[in-house]
Amino acid sequence: MSSDEVYTSQLGRSIQEQERTHQQFQLITSALGFLLHPSVAVTLPSEPAIADIGTGTGRFLKEIYKHYPNARRLDGFDISSAFFDSAEFLPAAIQLHIHDVKTAFPAHLHGVFDLVHIRYLVGAMEPSDWAPVLHNLISLLKPGGGIQWTEPAGADMKIACSRVAPDELILTRLNSIFLEGPMTARSRAGVTMLPQVMQDAGMTVEQHIINTRDSPHLSQELAKNAAIAYLNFARSALGKQSSHAMTEDELREAEAKIQEEISYGAYPQYNIHTVLGRI
Ligand SMILES: C[S@@+](CC[C@H](N)C(=O)[O-])C[C@H]1O[C@@H](n2cnc3c(N)ncnc32)[C@H](O)[C@@H]1O
Repeated sequence: MSSDEVYTSQLGRSIQEQERTHQQFQLITSALGFLLHPSVAVTLPSEPAIADIGTGTGRFLKEIYKHYPNARRLDGFDISSAFFDSAEFLPAAIQLHIHDVKTAFPAHLHGVFDLVHIRYLVGAMEPSDWAPVLHNLISLLKPGGGIQWTEPAGADMKIACSRVAPDELILTRLNSIFLEGPMTARSRAGVTMLPQVMQDAGMTVEQHIINTRDSPHLSQELAKNAAIAYLNFARSALGKQSSHAMTEDELREAEAKIQEEISYGAYPQYNIHTVLGRI
């Protein structure tokens, strides 16, 4: 399977998935409290060149454009154009390109960007990908440029609930399916290793970690958003030989129960790491 097929087989590229990632982006931005970490923002020139990797619809760049309407260039890269807005709906400064970040960027993009931004690419990352992908990202940076990379620490993800024992919840089972599936190896090896990978590449590194429990006002929406991803993933595992796969009947029952569990206060609790690297 190609990198795109591996990624797509897990969460798909439906309109519903596009809407889910859009909402996830807003929720995570609220939980983080920033689009650009303050120590990144202070170093950016007033007319920056910024690249966004795994850009999806380019929503990060559209938000950035509001803050930097004179940006020299805002380039989004994604392995698929399925979620791209057509150019007529984008400001001229925003250009979206198809590119697999696991392959080298063309020479004309080398040394061009003040900042490379990545958010929620973990589903595409094998443990062995982090160092070579970082190498490709660094090639885009101007001297003194920086990387801002935000990912959930997926392996620590659990369902928390103040009113019922999380062990008995269907969301807890779905969460386990999500973490025991192909995401596990990727998530576990993922963002917690990134500061070391950046240091090994000669970068100066800073890290900012939050936990979803610190944003109780977002819990319900985070839970609804995660539930859609869980169900999509469990659905993609239907009919596959796996000890943790659900049957179609179990999935139907799960869908009916989830909303009730969310109204009891069940939500996904996990850390979100933002790793900043500078060359
Ligand atoms: C979960 S979405 C996140 C989108 C966006 N960064 C956000 O925060 O909303 C992950 C995106 O990474 C893209 N992607 C997956 N594998 C990739 C790869 N190897 N190279 C570039 N983009 C990739 C997917 O197509 C998808 O648009």
